[in-house]
Amino acid sequence: MSVAPRLVRGQKLVVASHNPGKIREINDLIRPFGVEAVSAGTLGVSEPEETETTFAGNARLKAWHSANATGLPALSDDSGLEVEMLGGDPGVYSARWAGPSKDFAVAMQKVADAVTAQGGWNAPGPRANFTAALCIAWPDGTTRVFEGRVFGTLVWPLRGPHGFGYDPMFLAESETETFGEMSPEKKHAISHRARAFKLFVDACFT
Ligand code: IMP
Repeated sequence: MSVAPRLVRGQKLVVASHNPGKIREINDLIRPFGVEAVSAGTLGVSEPEETETTFAGNARLKAWHSANATGLPALSDDSGLEVEMLGGDPGVYSARWAGPSKDFAVAMQKVADAVTAQGGWNAPGPRANFTAALCIAWPDGTTRVFEGRVFGTLVWPLRGPHGFGYDPMFLAESETETFGEMSPEKKHAISHRARAFKLFVDACFT
């Protein structure tokens, strides 16, 4: 039986993302483990086209692209917001709803309009979840995916200056602050990304 590769302190790890919000959160999460995290953009690695239809598929594609280009292990994140009454939209297209200028005010307005069209703004608000698929890829082609989810409801108007993407419109279950109102530390304690990250740490650190 082959043994899955593991990460050790001092190991260089590529963060296979070009999204500054995600890079910041992954760096925050990984700092205590003593690996040397360097972003794909810093190493001159291009951003691959996300051609898959699942979070796991796109995460695998991005991690392998960076591992193959650099000869280093690479960690990717594919994530997004899924709104139940919109059939899971924007889902894997969460970044694309922000358009070429990556304007998330535009993306959140599109979500709000789609919910309005369904008459969905009655209390307690439309049910939604964030999902994150983290993938570690090794230069030999081995990949492993870890998924985390956090469930909650959407709010409108937007609340909070923190975070990135759709954070100001997401209220996690049992919370009073949106992800946009929470401190980064509080978001890291409960987020979809943090949940996936815990599975990754348990599986990949010696
Ligand atoms: P992708 O994984 O690069 O396709 O992009 C996913 C998109 O989902 C991001 O650009 C964000 O807009 C959104 N997203 C993912 N995770 C979060 C989060 O933690 N907060 C807010 N938005 C998120």
